[in-house]
Amino acid sequence: MKHLVSILDLNNKDVNKIFSIAKHFEEVLERRVKKVPALIGKTLALLFIEPSTRTKTSFELAARRLSCDTISLSVSTSSLKKGETLEDTARTLSSMKVDCAVVRHPHEGAAKKLASLNLFPVINGGDGKGEHPTQALLDAYTALKKLKSLNGKKVSIIGDVLHSRVARSGIELWHRLGAKVTLVGPPTLLPRHLPEYVDVSYRLDEVMKNSDILYFLRIQRERLGGECLAGIEDYRDLYALTKDRLKNLRRDVVIMHPGPVNRGIELDPEVIYDERSIIEEQVFEGLSIRMAVLTLLLSEKGGFHEIPA
Ligand code: NCD
Repeated sequence: MKHLVSILDLNNKDVNKIFSIAKHFEEVLERRVKKVPALIGKTLALLFIEPSTRTKTSFELAARRLSCDTISLSVSTSSLKKGETLEDTARTLSSMKVDCAVVRHPHEGAAKKLASLNLFPVINGGDGKGEHPTQALLDAYTALKKLKSLNGKKVSIIGDVLHSRVARSGIELWHRLGAKVTLVGPPTLLPRHLPEYVDVSYRLDEVMKNSDILYFLRIQRERLGGECLAGIEDYRDLYALTKDRLKNLRRDVVIMHPGPVNRGIELDPEVIYDERSIIEEQVFEGLSIRMAVLTLLLSEKGGFHEIPA
């Protein structure tokens, strides 16, 4: 049984396979009837123990487009509220013959723990500041479509890298696809230990001209605890893509953000809809990428490595 807990669960062949299947599903999503019978009779559980709009709806829609049934559990409406552990909830779902689960959880390692039970394939939909592999895949795929190749491209990841599961999965994947990664932010929001292939900068203005992709992260207020940021205004001055900075931006730069955006903190509203922003494309590709991941994990052969190219 295979799981997708970390981006490291995928080798390069798996990543390419996901991208080529996603390309096929993009075409399905443009049809009048946006549905195929690929996963008919299968059931996906959505275990979201932390708020989510994009990831949850995206997985749910992706499953439905594949004719896969979905069930959704949240803390407020399930026995998790009565103190049941996630493990017991998962065992209950397994007894009901659920075929796969997407887990979002505030604690790093939660998805890995569930996966270790080997009840069904587990997809990490974001675990605390751990990882968010499908976000990394959809980001890289969207950028790849726009730029044709990521080889030698300069990707600057700006903001709260320290608390970002998106960055943790993304850094590895951008690098693997040949991009040069620079992390940009205040020292308090950058991790201390970084892979040697990553550059660091403390000023957005310094990296703006040389970046092919500006990838903005959300300030993770729920994980910050107050002490890391001196002031939001200072942050905005140094790291936000404001209306003013937009004027000095390269015409061919690509602007990305995983959402949800803190308007006026990471990005001014004008930036979100600027022609250089591919934020809406990221959301669209989230569907095709997740359709590809679900198909690979839930197909009869099961797992990434076993499926012939
Ligand atoms: C991210 C998440 O929840 O990890 N959003 C998302 O999945 N689209 C990023 C974030 O919340 O900052």
